[in-house]
Amino acid sequence: MLEFSSSQAAADKADTPCVVVGVFDQPFTGAAAAIDQASQGALTRLRDAGDLSCKAGTTLLVHAVSGVQAPRVLLVGLGAKADFDGLAYQRACQEAGKALKNLPVERATVFLPELDVRGHDAAWRVRTCALALDHAHFRYTATVKPNGGKRAQLKRVELAGAEDTKALEQARAIAKGVEFARELGCLPPNLCTPAYLAERAQGIADAHTAVTLEVLERDRMRELGMGALLAVAQGSANPPKLIVLQYRGAKDAKPFALVGKGVTFDTGGMNLKPTGSMEEMKYDMCGAAGVMGAFLAAVELKLPINLVCVVPAVENMPDGSSYRPSDVLTTLSGLTVEVLNTDAEGRLILCDALAYAKRFEPQAIVDAATLTGACVIALGKHATGLFSADDKLANELLEAGSATLDRAWRLPLWDDYRNQLESAFADIANIGGKSAGAITAACFLSRFAEGTPWAHLDVAGTAWDEGRKGYATGRPVPLLTQWLMSRCASE
Ligand code: BES
Ligand code: MN
Ligand code: ZN
Repeated sequence: MLEFSSSQAAADKADTPCVVVGVFDQPFTGAAAAIDQASQGALTRLRDAGDLSCKAGTTLLVHAVSGVQAPRVLLVGLGAKADFDGLAYQRACQEAGKALKNLPVERATVFLPELDVRGHDAAWRVRTCALALDHAHFRYTATVKPNGGKRAQLKRVELAGAEDTKALEQARAIAKGVEFARELGCLPPNLCTPAYLAERAQGIADAHTAVTLEVLERDRMRELGMGALLAVAQGSANPPKLIVLQYRGAKDAKPFALVGKGVTFDTGGMNLKPTGSMEEMKYDMCGAAGVMGAFLAAVELKLPINLVCVVPAVENMPDGSSYRPSDVLTTLSGLTVEVLNTDAEGRLILCDALAYAKRFEPQAIVDAATLTGACVIALGKHATGLFSADDKLANELLEAGSATLDRAWRLPLWDDYRNQLESAFADIANIGGKSAGAITAACFLSRFAEGTPWAHLDVAGTAWDEGRKGYATGRPVPLLTQWLMSRCASE
């Protein structure tokens, strides 16, 4: 993770290996103007010559600009001022981060947070910039050597316009949660097993005195009657774990509950996934990683709330002892479920986890899960699917998503969809047929959250970037952490 601090120096005088400055495609302003002036028009000449386009998405590195203290100036194109909104600002910060990643510098001073961004304040600019830089800086190193060898690598960033130290603290905490989630998401499923997830939860508990951890083993799940969670786990040699993290940051207040789908690998079970659909299923624990990351961020921020994080962790495997299509399971809630597809396993582990979370009498439950391919069809890779019968909670989460640009989009959760889950052999079936797959999955979950304000985030499209070099994104850590921070501010 990058280290962040604030800088008060002027752009031309900053004592740093690299200054990072934004340039609009019109008269230079702010830090760019200061550098242009100090260098007697170096930037103007670069632009006139066509080297500096100033287009959004571009960067240009220049060395030894006369009159400028820093040996390197990284110019980041901002495009037209009229189009410069929050997203354009975030993109500029991301591009700066990508360019910095390839420079042989350990330190840089970034002036982007000084820019005016329509509709956002200085604290937002600092947080967004720090998070975007840290995101670009992420490298997966657990099972592969970083390329680049011994060259210096960026470690520290000074941010101009970051006098608000609270914004920097928030950025650090969220970045830590995001990094935690990304690392876990990227780990291969032979290493990231249910037991490993429990180990990482133990790590959080060990590092914070206000956190306690309980891990429920198979025997305990049996005693409690978690028939659905146990069924999904029964085909795997890796035993299931129900991870329960608790944070006490307030005295008697009812806790918030976060629940995350922790399928460390989803083969589909007896309804085996075909080639092409299984390869990415190590990411099927990204909901779990996301809620654990948000939990970690909230704890780091010492938020004045109580928080419980429940993660059912299992592997979905075909085997002689696997559960089968047409099995009927008795869940912790008492409702019976007919399994019509063993690949709809996420909702089965979550229904027992939700019922368990309710025992903490939470003021609200939010779950995150890579639950349905249908959600990816509906919303693509940009928006997380949001489902809730509670308008207030839904709006809070939408708002937290747009504030962090970790955006969600609400889909309906009307009772009209319920009959798709009817079963002749149990209270409810685990699949709802061809249409509205993301909604019927959410409908299934809603039956187990009844009586508590609850929302479901389907992060199937947003939790990782596709392709052979795609990484886990750390979503929805920013959304969830922002939501918890906002709930603190409004109480
Ligand atoms: N983990 C998958 C959902 C998924 C698929 C996430 C692709 C991201 C990308 C989930 O367990 C699953 O298999 N869902 C099925 C449900 C179906 C059997 C009703 C699906 O989406 O096909
Ligand atoms: Mn599945
Ligand atoms: Zn799954």
